[in-house]
Amino acid sequence: MKTRAAWLAGTAAIVLVAAAAALRSAEGDSPTDRDRIPTAARKEIKSVELETDRIEAESLNRARSATLDRFQQITLLGKLIFYDRELSVRRNESCSFCHMPDTGFSGPVSALNQTTVAYPGSVRTRFSGRKPQSHTYASFSPVLHYNPEQGDLVGGQFWDMRATGLRLDSSLAEQAQGPPLNPVEMGLIDPACMVYRMSLRPYRAMAERLWGAQSFAVHWPVNTQEVCDRPGPAPDVDPLPLHLGAVERGIAQSTFDRIAEAIAAFEGSPEVTPFSAKYDYVMAGKSEFTPEEKAGYKLFRSKATHCNECHRDGGPGEEPLFTDFTASNLGLPRNPALSFYQENVPDQFGYTANPDGLKFLDLGVGGFLASPQNPNREWAAMAKSFLGKYKTPTLRNVDKRPRADFVKAYMHNGYLKSLKEVVHFYNTRDALPRCKPGGCWREGHVLAGARESGDDQSKTTRRFETE
Ligand code: HEC
Ligand code: HEC
Repeated sequence: MKTRAAWLAGTAAIVLVAAAAALRSAEGDSPTDRDRIPTAARKEIKSVELETDRIEAESLNRARSATLDRFQQITLLGKLIFYDRELSVRRNESCSFCHMPDTGFSGPVSALNQTTVAYPGSVRTRFSGRKPQSHTYASFSPVLHYNPEQGDLVGGQFWDMRATGLRLDSSLAEQAQGPPLNPVEMGLIDPACMVYRMSLRPYRAMAERLWGAQSFAVHWPVNTQEVCDRPGPAPDVDPLPLHLGAVERGIAQSTFDRIAEAIAAFEGSPEVTPFSAKYDYVMAGKSEFTPEEKAGYKLFRSKATHCNECHRDGGPGEEPLFTDFTASNLGLPRNPALSFYQENVPDQFGYTANPDGLKFLDLGVGGFLASPQNPNREWAAMAKSFLGKYKTPTLRNVDKRPRADFVKAYMHNGYLKSLKEVVHFYNTRDALPRCKPGGCWREGHVLAGARESGDDQSKTTRRFETE
């Protein structure tokens, strides 16, 4: 199905050379701001927090007033959890902090996208090492599996596919159990802390109606609040610092699973995954591409660009998700602007996010396959061939932004800052020496196509110009 091999030949070498160059150029950089949040980002962060609280309050009102069917109740509960900042260790960071609707549920802070790319965690001095993915349409990503016909791994969540979905039979639900316990994200020290914090929230009764009266029936130890206010990770000698009996631990775990499933239900619901882009209207015969967009669409599907080999635009029995849920190594240079490279000294809690400092190499899917997190021994043998590969992101909502001058970061490390740069990268990375003026394909056309991938086009029918 794919003719990627030749196209990607040599990219691993490019990554390594570029990484070495990036290493050199970043040496000597020293952060001046202790929490590494650029000043320009602070105002934006404040308004993301306010907007998050507004959506949470509005959702609570809806939960109280409306008569909702079961599906609406489950997705609304997922939404209430998704926008709830109280569920993070410092009570300041919900999932939405890194995934807001205005940007197609990816990073909502322009000044961070431009600089650190990754977002600070609930403990604001800690940053992760990658760009927040959009989670729209992620509900279609299957449980990670090997497809013998393609000879490839397909599915899972995260850039490196590590949320396999094997345990809960849903990659999306399993993903949702990552951020709450990730020390550089929401930072809780024990999964039961998520359940405890939720038991204090006004939507607890709604969860009990849906999941049963046992959901929060745990005798919380007297030190629960104190333990849960302590940022993770838990120490190796005490991996579950909330000391519950076996049965209550089981209740907490199963409620933690229900929480994850509710979040996944919200993410897969029409509110987040609506198929309402102009592209969908055109395919349904209800709208028309402009001549520029039409040319872009043709080019996107052509042998000249190969775009839709990985960013699949649909087909018989296949939704146009603009990804095939496989991973590739595009040969991107590494991005020394990620704060993660600076996090090689213990923070105030003694935690070191990245002991390797500047020497850290993000190994992508290969890193996951070689790690103890990989649940399948047979896959471990493939680790080498997956080094530097990242999951193909959907291109839906890829240009969605709240205002024209809002900067989005692209690729797993946010190295590229505009669609123009992305298209230029693809157009020239292998061919630059050979690509004489007029010899490359016209970039503006592909851009026009990508820009019509944003949802809710019916409401905000915009015209985009092309470069
Ligand atoms: C501090 C920022 C941050 C927070 C908070 C956060 N995320 Fe993310 N999200 C990211 C980053 C970064 C990635 C990619 C991480 C990786 O590949 O290691 C990601 C990836 C994802 C993905 C994978 C999408 C795909 O196509 O594979 C989903 C789904 C997602 N997040 C949902 C959530 C949910 C649900 C929560 C809350 C429980 C959440 N995120 C909290 C930053 C964040
Ligand atoms: C061989 C498979 C493949 C082909 C062909 C391909 N892509 Fe990609 N695309 C990917 C992968 C994998 C990534 C993520 C790479 C990474 O972060 O390291 C990506 C990332 C992107 C992104 C960034 C999205 C984001 O959310 O950060 C855009 C935009 C994009 N591709 C557009 C295109 C266009 C336009 C074409 C054709 C010119 C194309 N791609 C061809 C696999 C492919």
